[in-house]
Amino acid sequence: MTSVAVLGTGLLGTAIATRLLHQGLNVHVWNRDSSRIAPLAAMGANVIDDLEQVVENHRPIITVLRDASATTSVIDGVGHLQGSTVIPMGTMGVEESRNLAKHVAGQGGSYLEAPVLGSRPQALNGTLLVMAGGEALDFNQQHELLTHLAEQPMHVGPVGSGAATKLALNQMIASLTHSFSLSIRLIQQSGVPVETFMKILRPSALYAPTFDKKLQRMLDQHYSDPNFSTALLRKDLRLFLEEAAAAGLQTNGLQGLATLLEDAQGGDLDDQDYCALHELTVLR
Ligand SMILES: NC(=O)c1ccc[n+]([C@@H]2O[C@H](COP(=O)([O-])OP(=O)(O)OC[C@H]3O[C@@H](n4cnc5c(N)ncnc54)[C@H](OP(=O)(O)O)[C@@H]3O)[C@@H](O)[C@H]2O)c1
Repeated sequence: MTSVAVLGTGLLGTAIATRLLHQGLNVHVWNRDSSRIAPLAAMGANVIDDLEQVVENHRPIITVLRDASATTSVIDGVGHLQGSTVIPMGTMGVEESRNLAKHVAGQGGSYLEAPVLGSRPQALNGTLLVMAGGEALDFNQQHELLTHLAEQPMHVGPVGSGAATKLALNQMIASLTHSFSLSIRLIQQSGVPVETFMKILRPSALYAPTFDKKLQRMLDQHYSDPNFSTALLRKDLRLFLEEAAAAGLQTNGLQGLATLLEDAQGGDLDDQDYCALHELTVLR
């Protein structure tokens, strides 16, 4: 039976580990807060108590941790990697991922960044979009594992290219949600029924499916039970802006949204679904 370790069982990591269990894999899980592992253990996952137990029989190590610094410190704790491949699926910066790859090589492991687009539902039904960055050999070796999570995992280039692709997509999550929120606000203030607006928007070239995914939550101001938190969207927008600055891009248009999200840091919205940024598009 294929064996895999999943380090980090937050919102996405739990869904990924659950999918791998349902696919019949022998899944070993670790989380800093061990209480979050209990549901996976009840489903048959093997609990790793000590990071030094992670490496065994060259099994691949998927990490689904908050950011690059958490991932680096957790991988440090694993010790010598004995040829295992580390597959970070959390979102991190391009340089951060390249540095982590060097770190992993220094610990005797291989590295294949594999950030994903999609959230809990897509992880649970194996339809994540995986954008891998690394050596073709490593991608080919991990392809079968990745197909449990994605219908068509894609190898986008060397280490860093997967991270860049993911940040480019997450910038769009932030911008599209913000843009939609502003328009919904104006429509409501103008007294035009939201459904009338949607009937015009849906068949137009401006429509994006994410609008309907988030519309009801915005109208109901219901942001609990998140798939992806506001705090993590802020992290990713920060990373995008850093990469964009390094690439010489003009980001003034995006800075306003970043400022809104920075100002909200530490407040109620952080742990809620990212479409709670709808609360930031009215003056208070
Ligand atoms: N949720 C999504 O839909 C989604 C989609 C695509 C990509 N991502 C990315 O995937 C990653 C995980 O996202 P998530 O939504 O699962 O976040 P989450 O629910 O907040 O989980 C974060 C995970 O990181 C761990 N962690 C945080 N800081 C740590 C540290 N210093 N040392 C060790 N472990 C640490 C947490 O452990 P504790 O439980 O102990 O706090 C938890 O396992 C992020 O990079 C996110 O941007 C998420």
